[in-house]
Amino acid sequence: MTSAISVKSLTKTFILPHQKRTTLKESFVDFWQRQTYEKFAALSDVSFEVNRGEFFGIIGPNGCGKSTLLKILAGIYRPDSGIVTIGMADKGTHHAGTHSTPQPLSIASLLELGIGFQQDLSARENIFINGTLLGLTARQIRRLLPGIVEFAGIENFLDLKVKNFSSGMRQRLAFAIAAHIDADIYLCDEVLAVGDESFQKKCFETFASWREQGKTVVLVSHDANQIATLCDRAIYLDHGQLKSTGSAHQVIADYHAALAG
Ligand SMILES: Nc1ncnc2c1ncn2[C@@H]1O[C@H](COP(=O)(O)OP(=O)(O)OP(=O)(O)O)[C@@H](O)[C@H]1O
Ligand SMILES: [Mg+2]
Repeated sequence: MTSAISVKSLTKTFILPHQKRTTLKESFVDFWQRQTYEKFAALSDVSFEVNRGEFFGIIGPNGCGKSTLLKILAGIYRPDSGIVTIGMADKGTHHAGTHSTPQPLSIASLLELGIGFQQDLSARENIFINGTLLGLTARQIRRLLPGIVEFAGIENFLDLKVKNFSSGMRQRLAFAIAAHIDADIYLCDEVLAVGDESFQKKCFETFASWREQGKTVVLVSHDANQIATLCDRAIYLDHGQLKSTGSAHQVIADYHAALAG
């Protein structure tokens, strides 16, 4: 089986600031002397492989490093050490104009849905900005626009400023945009935690169509049921460390055993 994503010995630390001031006066007198820093390992020596066409789950408690890992895969964060390798697209796939030079598999990131929106612009304007950031041309976006709007269920709100959207509407819009992007790999962070039941149903239908098309999906969740339902294999992270790798069912059993024990 060919690899879509290969992760070797990934380590990521953050610098955590600590302020030791106790009184207001102290904080004015010498706060800079009392500022200390601590290195915090969000990911420690994490390695795994995601196969092509696989639905791969990342599970673990809040703060265990799931989103950090996905951001590294998406190229948003740089790891301190370790290597992420993205597989090469087959020749003769849909990637236009890339006949001669081999290209890595394309990635669509559905991370922190809606965080990239310009709050003072309308949904329509944001669809164009977002689509452009995701690599689409204006013409492609115009063609996709009706489908995105229908999927998000925001027909009446297309020209409303996004800041006046409900948080669920914002996330639906962000998911709808990313779901209309044709990529090889979809990186999804807690996308099913948002939206009401009818929208979750649409999300599941999107996953089903990605499955049919042989797409690779990496799905982050702390909901074991979602991972069990959707994923073939999974990893379980705790405090930035890889605790278990294997079939989704095995990894969930390990996760539940750790929670119980
Ligand atoms: N930019 C940052 N600076 C400092 N610490 C960070 C940063 N990003 C993440 N962290 C820390 O790294 C740890 C892992 O965060 P992460 O967002 O990856 O957790 P998570 O597994 O996605 O949790 P959740 O289930 O709550 O979404 C947390 O302790 C978080 O505070
Ligand atoms: Mg997270």
